[in-house]
Amino acid sequence: MLRIGSLELETPLLLAPIAGHCDLPFRILCREEGGVGLASTDLLNCHSLLRGTRGGTALARTNGMDQPLGMQLYGNAEDPLPEAACWAIDHGARLIDINMGCPVDKITKKNGGSLLLRNPCTTIELAGRVVEAVRRHSNGRIPVTAKIRLGWDEKSIVGPELARGLEQAGIDAITVHGRTTEQRFKGSADWHRIGDIVAAVDSIPIIGNGDVTEPEHARQMMQVSGCRGVMIGRGALRTPWIFRRAWTLLTTGRACSEPSFNQKIRVILRHLALLEQYRDHRHAVMCMQKRISWYGKTMGHIRPLKEAVRTSDSIEQMRQVIQSWIQDDGEEYTSMGRRDTGSATSARDQVGAMVR
Ligand SMILES: Cc1cc2nc3c(=O)[nH]c(=O)nc-3n(C[C@H](O)[C@H](O)[C@H](O)COP(=O)(O)O)c2cc1C
Repeated sequence: MLRIGSLELETPLLLAPIAGHCDLPFRILCREEGGVGLASTDLLNCHSLLRGTRGGTALARTNGMDQPLGMQLYGNAEDPLPEAACWAIDHGARLIDINMGCPVDKITKKNGGSLLLRNPCTTIELAGRVVEAVRRHSNGRIPVTAKIRLGWDEKSIVGPELARGLEQAGIDAITVHGRTTEQRFKGSADWHRIGDIVAAVDSIPIIGNGDVTEPEHARQMMQVSGCRGVMIGRGALRTPWIFRRAWTLLTTGRACSEPSFNQKIRVILRHLALLEQYRDHRHAVMCMQKRISWYGKTMGHIRPLKEAVRTSDSIEQMRQVIQSWIQDDGEEYTSMGRRDTGSATSARDQVGAMVR
């Protein structure tokens, strides 16, 4: 079991923040599929939260189906990160995460995200202030974590030193994406170097991240690096059921099979229903138009389906198109399929009832 401060997760598998993708409907979808121990919002701008802008607060939207939830904040030492962390607690966060790994110019130009890796001392001091504010505001109930990369570039691998300092500042766990900022998403994540960070800290859990796209990868990452949790991003966009499969593998030692083609189609339909429930019509349509190619990566030859979804301009039209791909002779349940997932299934049924 993975424990982060006072928070005990049901599984050590975490859904990564992926800006523009891991919104409330998608987080609920992954949770319903089973195996998710913790999910996170996309990175949130502290000024937008405190000003109450519609865009900023929409990204922080959550509900009872979406717990436990981490809210991820970005900013620099001059920004009101401690105040925004308190806002997040008041709006449903069960954990506060500080983004120290985003390589995107828009964020690093504001001295946030990965730029925090450039100056470990200031970053550790900032983390200490967030920890103090959160402890006071939540009576010690809410943990604070950080999400980092190995370092800015090959010449400045600050991960181990930074992680030690963050632990001393009171940070409860650290997620490490095994690439440098300069690499962005190129090359492959270095799980051995995640192990260097595991070795550098005293007792807080390190959560490994990067390139886990199959259940077996989660187990391998834990074995190679010694990390206590695994965070999955892009792998979940194509296969939101990866957490259930990885959790089965970690707990039973046996791999369970991929969902059948029909099951995958039903997951896409469920995603569409959740988008319809939680997003406005235009966003829901745009989101599925973007997402269909991620789903398509494991579904064989579905080019006509992808084309039809991309050119649909209403949810109803999309639904009909996707439904028409359910195959009469398609197998509904695999040997270790969704019906075996216990509480995940009942959560799914509850939301299903709400939608109906
Ligand atoms: C489009 C995109 C958006 C992302 N947005 C965020 C973000 O908001 N916050 C964050 O900490 N990481 C973000 N990441 C990084 C992921 O959380 C994760 O660290 C990275 O994708 C590596 O993990 P993976 O190989 O499992 O995807 C983003 C990645 C992608 C591809």
